[in-house]
Amino acid sequence: MRTSQPQTIYLKDYKVPAFVVDHVDLRFELFEDGARVHSLLSVRRNPDSDGAEADLELDGDSLKLESIQLDGKTLADGDYDNRGEKLVVPAVPDQFELAVVTWLEPQNNTRLEGLYKSSGMFCTQCEAQGFRCITYFPDRPDVMARFRTRVEADKSAYPVLLSNGNDVEKGDLENGRHFVTWEDPFPKPSYLFALVAGDLVEKRDSFRTMSGRDIDLRMYIEPRNAEKCDHAIDSLKRAMRWDEEVYGREYDLDIFMIVAVDDFNMGAMENKGLNIFNSSCVLASQETATDVAFQRIESIVAHEYFHNWSGNRVTCRDWFQLSLKEGFTVFRDSQFSSDMGSPTVKRIEDASMLRTAQFAEDAGPMAHPVRPESYMEITNFYTLTIYEKGCEVVGMIRTLLGEELFRKGSDLYFERHDGQAVTTDDFVRAMEDASGRDLSQFRLWYEQAGTPELTIKDEFDQGSGVYRLSIEQTIPDTPGQTHKKPQHIPFALGLI
Ligand code: SER
Ligand code: ZN
Repeated sequence: MRTSQPQTIYLKDYKVPAFVVDHVDLRFELFEDGARVHSLLSVRRNPDSDGAEADLELDGDSLKLESIQLDGKTLADGDYDNRGEKLVVPAVPDQFELAVVTWLEPQNNTRLEGLYKSSGMFCTQCEAQGFRCITYFPDRPDVMARFRTRVEADKSAYPVLLSNGNDVEKGDLENGRHFVTWEDPFPKPSYLFALVAGDLVEKRDSFRTMSGRDIDLRMYIEPRNAEKCDHAIDSLKRAMRWDEEVYGREYDLDIFMIVAVDDFNMGAMENKGLNIFNSSCVLASQETATDVAFQRIESIVAHEYFHNWSGNRVTCRDWFQLSLKEGFTVFRDSQFSSDMGSPTVKRIEDASMLRTAQFAEDAGPMAHPVRPESYMEITNFYTLTIYEKGCEVVGMIRTLLGEELFRKGSDLYFERHDGQAVTTDDFVRAMEDASGRDLSQFRLWYEQAGTPELTIKDEFDQGSGVYRLSIEQTIPDTPGQTHKKPQHIPFALGLI
């Protein structure tokens, strides 16, 4: 149970992490009455941090600590402090290995954060801060590590054992158990970690990338859903091709997996190489789903796939930057949907959703900027403002730059920041650098909440032939923000 009071976290207090983790070696022993997690972290002090003497502080939530070793030496009770939601180890060397064993009860995890059970299968949800419910870790997106994960479970109850990356080893163990080891060559933040274990049906397909690599596509579902996968797999292949053609983005691992689970907090999750979906967002058959449901699945499958670049290869420095990956990825999935269907219909749908739901959020007590200044509970910030207004802000950059310069900007962004955890400001800077445009005033879209209101007056003087258009902009006050500055808005008009 969480015991501490929620605290307000401020963007202005951001500090680079005191320690970096180069490698994470995990071993999960899954049982009916719980799970034991063995974690081995290769840690070193961050040369970019000024905390040369800092204690090691790892996040942990609802964990039962079984043992802890530093460079192979077991630590006694007095050598560390794990009261509260941190594991603090003072006086650590500049570089070391930390081995921690924790015990969890996934079968009793009803928060659906971290490792839990749903319809007899184990699965995870780590965004935003669920990894700390699995083991002690610097659970923040700017700590990016390479993961190797070994999953062990009863072979007949859990024949399928999955994690991120490529499967590198498998075998049988005593007592009817077996294991599979997964290795993810791409450094990633802990929120993209995933594990699935269950008795699942596998559907296979493949995709040849633009450079000629063959990717194994695998979808895992409960046997009763075996006939409801085709649309998701077809959508995935269309999304993979589209991202190559429109953004020049190729898939990077050898395997791409989709899993459908019934109990899931979000619609879906873009874990590296192992996307997990709420069944309702991925399974469909002609007999039971409408056209709208088919379109929705296509766009969610594409959204999660697109995150592989906009979110995973280039990720967020901190959770204030959530719209960096979400706004941009919603923009990408809406471009994809309009290319797959009718651009006009898609634009009308998006605009009316924005006007009804996001404008209401922006006018109410929850109004917040696309890049918030503070939060108490990050899970409350998966909002229409972060996703949909964030998408519109990217769309305005695209309008201001035009298609060609926008593509130059996104190429520069992906190339410059590949493997990094960055900010919305870095995104805008890449767009500026690639285009030579000045977006300094435009940045207010990220900082100010509220929907700008325009008052437009026009007059035409027959005699002189002069047409005069005057536009006045006001932005209403929102909680904590008054006297706002005018925002840069692209404005199109035609004279007939
Ligand atoms: N990151 C997830 C998504 O955008 C959570 O909603 O799909
Ligand atoms: Zn997303």
